[in-house]
Amino acid sequence: MEPPYPIKVKAIWFDNERGELCWINTLKLPQVEETVCSSSPERVAKAIVDMEIRGAPAIGVAAALAIGSYALKSSNLGIDDFTQGVRRAISILSKTRPTAYNLFYALGRMENTLENALKKTSDPVKVAEILVKEALSIYWEDVWANLRIGEYGAELVPDNATILTHCNAGALATSAYGTALAIVRVAWYKGKKVRVIATETRPMLQGARLTVYELMKEGIPVTLITDNSVGMVLRKGLVDLVVVGADRITRDGYVVNKIGTYMNALAARRHNKPFYVAAPTSTIDMSRTIDQVVIEERDPSEVKYIYGNPIAPREVNALNYAFDVTDPDLVTAIITERGVVYPPYGENLEKLFKPL
Ligand code: MRU
Repeated sequence: MEPPYPIKVKAIWFDNERGELCWINTLKLPQVEETVCSSSPERVAKAIVDMEIRGAPAIGVAAALAIGSYALKSSNLGIDDFTQGVRRAISILSKTRPTAYNLFYALGRMENTLENALKKTSDPVKVAEILVKEALSIYWEDVWANLRIGEYGAELVPDNATILTHCNAGALATSAYGTALAIVRVAWYKGKKVRVIATETRPMLQGARLTVYELMKEGIPVTLITDNSVGMVLRKGLVDLVVVGADRITRDGYVVNKIGTYMNALAARRHNKPFYVAAPTSTIDMSRTIDQVVIEERDPSEVKYIYGNPIAPREVNALNYAFDVTDPDLVTAIITERGVVYPPYGENLEKLFKPL
């Protein structure tokens, strides 16, 4: 079935003719729209580490498509070398970014698919076909999860609302419409007059470079603010609700998302505005509590330089946490493709995963 709304911005896809993963190098946006294709696990791993491909769902889906693509390209090998190569590819991709749960969710599925396929056949061509099929399922499930998150979330958005969002939880972070931005898109497609306030999101500027770019492409009104303006725009009554994405949600309801999310949640609470987290169930880690999550720390040079230009004395120490943690009591609801989850999260997240 075709999705009901056209996908106008795409970050990652599988090119059938090339048999390769292709992506828009989001590091170069908005100045340059560069497409890169590869089937090399090393090249895709570098793209994820350097953040050419970023955003938790996009990282997971890209890793799965990269495994499928690598399997296709190496299916002329003998079964032992083929299997060893695919396992190695999974291991390389698993060491790219530690926080986004979708990466481990997708690689776990690819690993299980490989092991199950090997029980049925020792023909690398057939195993590769099965792996590509699984990777494409992961891709399409994400497309539909985006849409359903959009549908559920749009119900919570009043007409004429101004939505504050942080980082980029949009098409450029997923397979199709985004998570937080799917809510904006679906509300907009349904005729609600919504506006977005986007934080610039230092140090990598995902809000300024990506959220603004993809919303402007669709003509959805967006205003850019510096990260430190959030308190002021809330105080001035310019925001009706805050919607952000997540890199990982733990079973105890803590939300790990782009650095700065926590401050936004605190400010939203102070001003009595709803703070929603939009994420597919592939972001929810039911096997961990928050103390077991690794928060990625990135190179301090990302803080000290912008586009290669130093903005601080070169010798200064800088701290560069990529993500922060928002306590469950600051989260109004978690919007997933299976429905909207309200507190108590410990209990209600578990219900979400119970078979019907
Ligand atoms: O470091 P990034 O750009 O990969 O971080 C992205 C975010 O924090 C997003 O909010 C999150 O991955 C959700 S994207 C739908």
